[in-house]
Amino acid sequence: MCGIVGYVGKKDCTDVLIDALSKLEYRGYDSAGIAVFEKNAIKVEKTKGRLKDLVDKMAEDGKPAGHCGIGHTRWATHGEPSDINSHPHGNKRISIVHNGIIENYKEIKDFLIKEGYGFESETDTETVAKLLDYYYDGNPLDTIIKVLAEIEGSYALGIIFRDFPDRIYAVRKDSPLIVGVGEQENFIASDVPAILKYTRDYYLIEQDEICELTAEHVRIYDTRKNVIEKELQTATWDIDAAEKGGYEHFMLKEIHEQPKAVKMTVSPRVKNGMPDFSETGLTVEKLKQYHQIFVVACGTAMHAGLVSKYVIEKIARIPVIVDIASEFRYREPLIGEGDLLIVISQSGETADTLAALKLGKQLGADTFALVNVVGSSIAREADMVLYTNAGPEISVASTKAYSVQIAAMYLFAFEVAYAKGKITEEECRKYVSELMEIPDYIEKTLECKTICQQTAAKLMNADSLLYIGRGLDYALSMEGSLKLKEISYIHSESYAAGELKHGTISLVTKQMPVIAVATQKGLIEKTISNIKEVKARGAMVVLVCGETLDIEDGVADCIIRLPEVDEILMPAIAAVPLQLIAYYTSVLKGCDVDKPRNLAKSVTVE
Ligand code: M6R
Repeated sequence: MCGIVGYVGKKDCTDVLIDALSKLEYRGYDSAGIAVFEKNAIKVEKTKGRLKDLVDKMAEDGKPAGHCGIGHTRWATHGEPSDINSHPHGNKRISIVHNGIIENYKEIKDFLIKEGYGFESETDTETVAKLLDYYYDGNPLDTIIKVLAEIEGSYALGIIFRDFPDRIYAVRKDSPLIVGVGEQENFIASDVPAILKYTRDYYLIEQDEICELTAEHVRIYDTRKNVIEKELQTATWDIDAAEKGGYEHFMLKEIHEQPKAVKMTVSPRVKNGMPDFSETGLTVEKLKQYHQIFVVACGTAMHAGLVSKYVIEKIARIPVIVDIASEFRYREPLIGEGDLLIVISQSGETADTLAALKLGKQLGADTFALVNVVGSSIAREADMVLYTNAGPEISVASTKAYSVQIAAMYLFAFEVAYAKGKITEEECRKYVSELMEIPDYIEKTLECKTICQQTAAKLMNADSLLYIGRGLDYALSMEGSLKLKEISYIHSESYAAGELKHGTISLVTKQMPVIAVATQKGLIEKTISNIKEVKARGAMVVLVCGETLDIEDGVADCIIRLPEVDEILMPAIAAVPLQLIAYYTSVLKGCDVDKPRNLAKSVTVE
């Protein structure tokens, strides 16, 4: 999704903007641009392509020289990626950058056309720029307030006015925005990594708060022009956490950070050997009362929800309905008072998940958010929030966020099972202590790198792949399949192993490799039979299983052995080889591992 930044201070503004935008590249983008005050005029440079293309263009055109400006990386929604559609938009007296979608832009555009305005781009953003110009009366704050009253949709806007070359304005609704506070310099950004090189202090901007920044001050107003006092936040992680730290890609770095991330997520939520969610307000008394639990999320976070369904239903005996947020929000879900809605999101900004959360709340359910980004929209909207302490996840392909999500959901499952009287305190303690050992097992599993690399070499030329498993292995293989397709562009599907023979097995030939996950003791024999079925049809089989499993010769072409723990915890370990296979396949194919085509890290549109 788009990223916005802004800088006002004493440094070379263009350099700061480009540097800050580079820290938002993980969000995904197809064009970039900046607008900088140069001798009291707004100078705009923008282009389709990567930041490097923008830098090259500026080398030809002359780099804008100034100390105040705004910048943008665009992920196209309205209109193809092109120079014209790139941000900033505006004219000689107003320039803006925007992350989000203006839903009523057509009506505004029609109105402005009648008023004599012309439009160059196909974007929704240009209508906001022109509407600002239409209302502009010399007072930026009044102008912005008038525009906010008319636009609908989501936005984080950075705005500069030619008449005020020493300041930036910014405002947000349903798209993320922070204001970084430095010494004699201030910043706006979509996310904290953009400003970390300069300052760790920032304000989290709430809905419809309007910010005014100069080098000397930051003022924040509501839409009635009241000044709002806000608490300054301090980023607890430093710049290294947002850099590659010697790894070739963020994804590989983040895969290796999983042991630490799981520890950071689980340890603070265990007191005297028992789960402790008191920081969230989720008590054992509350948990006892829920009739059903809904887990709603998108992509990888939804897959983490699926793992939790198997675990919670198995040990706590309470129905768990897992749904994709974009489906849940439009299917009139049967959720209400007495139910618990858990939403899972790394970014905390996913538009569909946020909407699902609002819907669940409106229908009377208690809402609980499992979120990585502190202060994100989902975290702020939910009744209760538990932060996964994974640190920044930069790679578009989610890895450590998945591990911490399932780890937190395990702990949650133990707590519900105990609250519902389905497991004893002793059993609960045993589960918790096994969960606390998972980081060490993940560390050990990372040693399977070489075999995953060799496996990737065998898979890289396939056009299509199948992942199969039963029970928790099936839930996990969905994530394995998503990981592979998003970063290697190889088509793959995940199938419940027992369901193959009802149709999909007709696809199996020598050209269709199969990755089988078999870690669930009670289901292994059945899965092995299904593996034999695909093997008999010529498939090359990669088997991911426990280290002690006795396997006849010829069942699989390649076997990846894992350390063994309680079978309900196996997905936490088995995720690692699936992530590594996807990673190495992408590397071998020469794909852009951390920034796969068409994808964005934070999906703030429907
Ligand atoms: O930030 P969120 O966890 O809400 O994001 C949800 C999905 O967009 C995300 O997991 C996506 O599927 C990843 N690219 C998967 O690697």
